[in-house]
This record gives sequence, structure tokens and C-alpha cells, in this order.
Amino acid sequence: MDLRPSAEHDLIRQTVREFAERRLRPLAKQIDETHHWPAELAGEMGDLGLMGMNFPTELGGAGADMVSYCIAIEELSRVCASTGVICSVNNSLSGWPLATYGNADQHERYLRPMLAGKKLGAYGLTEPNAGSDVVSMQTTATKSGKGWTLNGQKLFITNAGLAETYVVFAQTDKTAAHKGQTAFLLEKGMSGFGIGKPEDKLGIRGAPCCPLFFENVEVPAENVLGPVGDGFKVAMKTLDGGRLGIASQALGIAVGAYEASLAYAQERKQFGKPIGSNQAIQWKLADMATRIEASRLLIHKAAQLKDLKAPYSKEAAMAKVFASETAMWAATEAVQIHGGNGYTKDYPVERAFRDAKITEIYEGTSEIQRMVIANNLLKGV
Ligand code: CAA
Repeated sequence: MDLRPSAEHDLIRQTVREFAERRLRPLAKQIDETHHWPAELAGEMGDLGLMGMNFPTELGGAGADMVSYCIAIEELSRVCASTGVICSVNNSLSGWPLATYGNADQHERYLRPMLAGKKLGAYGLTEPNAGSDVVSMQTTATKSGKGWTLNGQKLFITNAGLAETYVVFAQTDKTAAHKGQTAFLLEKGMSGFGIGKPEDKLGIRGAPCCPLFFENVEVPAENVLGPVGDGFKVAMKTLDGGRLGIASQALGIAVGAYEASLAYAQERKQFGKPIGSNQAIQWKLADMATRIEASRLLIHKAAQLKDLKAPYSKEAAMAKVFASETAMWAATEAVQIHGGNGYTKDYPVERAFRDAKITEIYEGTSEIQRMVIANNLLKGV
């Protein structure tokens, strides 16, 4: 067992870090303050292969493995967590179900432009009364002449507005419990498909997050994604991979907060010496570095299992809960190390503190991750 990164993984880290430092570092504060993510970044990231990392080249992807994808999301999020999640939603939540369950026509029409960063994707699962409890969704799709008619609404949809293609889940048979949902592909601009006002969020303020409204949206039959009635399974399997993206985003936030703290501890002098010479600060840095390393190992292990096509739901949930709690804890300690300065927008740890929180909530709360882990343990997986 060799736990060292390969030469290819090192090269990917170096390439994405160079992009993040050159293009995102100068913009990250402004993206947070203005809630505006410059859309031209999508094309630039597409040209680098970042919008379709873990997809076959035949489908327009970069042909990289899942570990490479996790490294890329970590490196983007180390500098700008909004960019990290926009990229992760495109790859994991929209690209993956399309690549996996879509047919050749859907790949041509929707997947290729998504992986190229030309037409981004979004994932419409959450509803006002169906957050953790996915199967209680109330959006319906009923059979109509040429396909399906959608009615209902979604909430907290990342990339909404920015995206052109939406993977949307709806009830097609309310009596069939977990076999009553189906996934559909919707396009921005379809008649009756509305995108609401962006949420005013605590963190990841550059990543748009809006409600979606469906009022008699006519979706053609060829836009059904995967088998009718398989939507719950499609949603869950998609989230398994998505959780690795969010774990990597959390890891990147933690790394950014740690690096800023390490530098600050050596620069900032109190009582005539750098604060980093105090054991109280050293122990914080040591614990941050250790929990970051453990998060990365958990993420890369789960990513390898996914590449090997082995079961990895439990490992992805472990990686997500551990990395997101590490991010929140590390960002809190980073603010503490920075003292009063850390509480101001002049220092990046203030943004890391706000950005970290969502990683414990979206794509399954920490409580849901522990449920997934425990359910698998009890089943002997
Ligand atoms: N892969 C394949 N099948 C799965 C599965 C998985 N990961 N998880 C469950 N299933 C199957 C089960 O095996 C079961 O199949 P059978 O009926 O054949 O036995 C079926 O699905 C039902 O499973 P459960 O009884 O476990 O379902 P549940 O209703 O109790 O829900 C849950 C389980 C884990 C709580 C699930 O609802 C869940 O993950 N909830 C969290 C939702 C979530 O993460 N939302 C995030 C929204 S997207 C987002 O946040 C995006 C963003 O902003 C960036």
C-alpha cells in the first residue's frame, strides 16, 4: 500500500493551484462581497478540464481519476470555496448522473457542453418540505401527450441561474414510496420553469443558490433521465459522489485557514515574540495539520473505491462528516489565532469561517452522514 500521491496527482495539484492563485486569489474577496461569480471562469476552467474531471474523454471529459477530481476541488476551495462548489455541482451532481444514466443523445445535447464549462449544470432535489427526507418531495410529474408535465418547487439549488441544464427529481407515482420518483432534464428558459431570487447566505456567497418553480412545465419524453421510478436511487448514488466533492471543498477551506494561521503565527508578535512560539498556538496548528491529513486520507480512500467500482457510500459519508467538521473547527481556531484581526474582513479566515459551515449541511447534514454510516455498519457493509 503506497499512500503517497502519484506524479500525475502532484501535477494536477500544481496546475490547479497555479490557476487558483492566478485567477481566483485576486477575485475571491470580491466574489464574496458582491455575490457575483464571473461566468467567464467557467469556460477557463472547462479549458483546463476542471468542469469534467472524472469523465471519459469520449464524452468530453478529462479522463482523470476520482482522486484527481478531489485534489482539484480541494485546491480551488483553498482559495475560493464558492468556485469549489460551483465546480463540484457541475461535475458530481449534474455531470455524473447524466454520464451514468443518460443516453447518447442526452450526452451530446447536455453533457458535452456541461463538461466543457459552456453550459453549466444544477441539481434540483431539495424542497421546502423535503430536505433530509428526500422521498417526501412534492414536485409531481404527470404523463402528458408528448412527455411529462412538472408542477412544484425546489429550494436551495446551487448554480441556479448560472446553469443551463437542471437535473430535477419529481414524483411520478406517489404510492410507490422509494420507487415513485424519476429524474428529468430541464433547460433554463423552458415555458413555466422559473428561477427565484438568490438566497442571501452566510457563506459561499459567490455560488448562486435559488428556488426553482415549475408551473405546468412540459418536459419531452426524451428528457427523462434513467428509468422511470429509479429517481431515488439516481439521487442517492449521485450524492455518494457529490459528498466527496463537498468533503474536498471542506478540506480546501481547512487548508486555506491553516496556511493563513501558520503564516500569521510566525508574523504576529506579542510580548516581544511571535505568537507561534507559544505552546497554546503550536498545539492548535498541530491539531489542524493532523485533522487535515486525516481528512485527505479518508477522501482519497473513498475516491479510490469509487474508481474501483467498489461500494463507497459509507466511506464517502465518513469523509464528508470528518472533513466538514474539520473545516468548521479549523476555521474557528484560525479566527482565534488571528484574534481581533480574524474577526474582520481584512483577513481571509473570516470568510473561511463563514464558508465552512455549509459543508456540515448541504449534500446531507452531518447527522444524515452518521445515519448513512450506521445503516451500512448495521448491514455489515
Ligand atoms: N445508493 C443506492 N441505493 C441507495 C442508497 C445509495 N447511496 N441509499 C439508499 N438506497 C436505497 C436503499 O437501499 C433502499 O433500497 P430498497 O428499497 O431496494 O431496499 C432505498 O434506497 C431506500 O433507502 P432508505 O430506506 O435508506 O431511504 P430513506 O428514505 O430512509 O432515506 C437517507 C435515506 C440517507 C436519509 C436519504 O434520504 C438522504 O441521503 N437524505 C439526505 C438528502 C441530501 O443529502 N440532500 C442534499 C441535497 S443536494 C445539495 O445539497 C446540493 C447542494 O446544495 C450543493
